[in-house]
Amino acid sequence: MDIEKIRSDFPSLQQEFNGKPVIYFDNACMTLRPRQTIAAMNVYYEEYPGCAGRSIHKFGNLVTENYDNARERISKFINAKREDEIVFTRNTTEAINLVANSFGFGKGDIVITSDREHNSNLLPWLILAEKKGITRKIIKSKEDDTFDIETFEQTVHGAKLVSFVHTSNIDGYNLPVKDIIRISHDAGALVMLDAAQSIPHKSVDVRELDVDFLAFSGHKMLGPSGIGALYGKYELLEKLSPFMVGGDTVSRTTYDSYEMLPPPEKFEAGLQNYAGAIGMAAAAEYLDKVGMENIQQHEKELTAYLREQMSEIEGVKILGVNDNELAGGVISFAVDGVNHHDIAMILDQTSNIMIRSGQHCAHSWFNAHNLEGSARISLYLYNTMEEVETFLTQLREIVKLR
Ligand code: ALA
Repeated sequence: MDIEKIRSDFPSLQQEFNGKPVIYFDNACMTLRPRQTIAAMNVYYEEYPGCAGRSIHKFGNLVTENYDNARERISKFINAKREDEIVFTRNTTEAINLVANSFGFGKGDIVITSDREHNSNLLPWLILAEKKGITRKIIKSKEDDTFDIETFEQTVHGAKLVSFVHTSNIDGYNLPVKDIIRISHDAGALVMLDAAQSIPHKSVDVRELDVDFLAFSGHKMLGPSGIGALYGKYELLEKLSPFMVGGDTVSRTTYDSYEMLPPPEKFEAGLQNYAGAIGMAAAAEYLDKVGMENIQQHEKELTAYLREQMSEIEGVKILGVNDNELAGGVISFAVDGVNHHDIAMILDQTSNIMIRSGQHCAHSWFNAHNLEGSARISLYLYNTMEEVETFLTQLREIVKLR
């Protein structure tokens, strides 16, 4: 993997602030975009800025073709069986909400989540419990913060849906999803994965996993913001009743009746984010060219070194699972006596090191652990060992502030 060549594709990395380069370590929130993503979107706006699936003029035909190609590209990226198993959404959040509100959940239906879910995979179920009386079950992590598969196996019987984060945005921990899916299916439950933090960093094959629904976002995989996708097995998507309807979801209406289109159209109400879908497909193309195995290996090398070095700095504590074999390129940490927001501010002001601080939209986990928040580094393919060294040097300085 030629990091310098990769870095040259990212215009935002070519800037300097106060004579120093940008060190971007906030990839779990939002990744940077290569010029290939930006160019693909610009081509839409400059050359065929029409609406897909409706108008039969040249712009209409071109955007329809490119939007269809984008769907096919994304379906290939996750090895879906057919392209109409991909529904474009605004993001992971909307994809999860789509399933939660289209499934037809009723009183007493059991939905299981883990105790480390992002708000996007907590709130839809909390609201459904309030409105429809579903029963929620949460699998508490073990003492070492890893997934408790034994408790899960004892709990899953009778559940309608198991909805778990694939890779945690708190500590990069990868849940043992293959086992979870097998156990769930044996117990008759369907499985949805929040793959927002996994899809960008490793090869995810929906057929190999046999997962039923998978939600992910463009902006965490070098794509634009405001676009994401829901993968669903076609026969399951057929059974869902869309929670949002409108233009292009139906083949015909009268004042009193309608004929719904099949998936994915029935879920994509109104004009869509065509440039976003096309940009997301260009991002998938870019990632595939670099190779997901190469990206994963590169991140592993950087995080292994970071974990080792950070563990040796007195006063620094890595939160959650701190095992490079089990966790990906996300490290949450605390420095005794220094507020996490101050850490982020100092890193930004001294060295243009951009990290995230706070509770990372996973308030429930922080509250359960009596923690106000953490500082969080999240890496990606364009990060370098040199950047890691700069970060470690600054962190050693921050520790002296105690
Ligand atoms: N889920 C995103 C993050 O972890 C917003 O930063």
